[in-house]
Amino acid sequence: METFLKWAGGKRWLLNKADKLLPDINLTNRYIEPFLGGGSIFFHLEPKVALLSDLNEDLINTYVVMRDSWHDLFEILKKYHNQHSQDFYYKIRASKPRTSINKAARFIYLNRTCWNGLYRVNRKGEFNVPIGTKSNVILSNDNFEQLSYLLNTASLDVCDFETTIDKAVENDFIFIDPPYTVKHNLNGFVKYNETIFSWQDQVRLRNSIARAISRGAKVLITNANHESIKELYKGCGKMHLLNRASVIAGNSEARGSYSELAILNG
Ligand SMILES: C[S@@+](CC[C@H](N)C(=O)[O-])C[C@H]1O[C@@H](n2cnc3c(N)ncnc32)[C@H](O)[C@@H]1O
Repeated sequence: METFLKWAGGKRWLLNKADKLLPDINLTNRYIEPFLGGGSIFFHLEPKVALLSDLNEDLINTYVVMRDSWHDLFEILKKYHNQHSQDFYYKIRASKPRTSINKAARFIYLNRTCWNGLYRVNRKGEFNVPIGTKSNVILSNDNFEQLSYLLNTASLDVCDFETTIDKAVENDFIFIDPPYTVKHNLNGFVKYNETIFSWQDQVRLRNSIARAISRGAKVLITNANHESIKELYKGCGKMHLLNRASVIAGNSEARGSYSELAILNG
């Protein structure tokens, strides 16, 4: 299956290189993903048991509602699909729904119609991305029932990565895709959820991964191809360079090809 969300740093592109990096999921105990984002690897692997988490509360709420109330969610989105316009977009963007289901509908609506599927909030935690060019709220390949079925295998938590990684035991497989931060590079700071993923977080992440490996967990880490990262993750597994075309930049001239690092242990 494919994810239903657009997410910055989404790993959909990794899937055609996945053969040599992703394990046979049937031979592992449990699938763990502590930086869930759009969850493209989870939906691709379709594991039987999963532990998924992210620090973004609105994101995790959306998955929970998709799992538990997909039908009602779809009904609301059908209405939004018919109502979509510039005025409607800014009305929904300014709204503060109280129920989980309305929060999830707003989240998916904004994800699908905002500029480039970007998720960005201001200091007050208010979503502030302008309207984009896409107007379909319901997509032709949407299959919420199937998404819900897959998510039924998962427990979903809002928490910091360390809490989740510390739960990994022998033969669990952890896919780790953090915001990319490198040392000595102020431009490398990535802002998500009003929190900056600092170099200290990167070190804390490496330490929690080392503990999980020593308990017998298998890990695949993706990260920036940068000397500071290679140095930090020495001993955490075999390093592979992955070439990919960049789709992050908004203007086509700035798009190019660059490489990322994958570190595989197990
Ligand atoms: C690069 S994205 C993951 C993308 C995902 N692999 C995909 O395919 O869409 C990184 C995610 O880490 C989350 N995040 C940032 N800091 C975190 C932290 N300290 N603990 C847990 N999640 C965090 C962000 O909310 C974001 O969803």
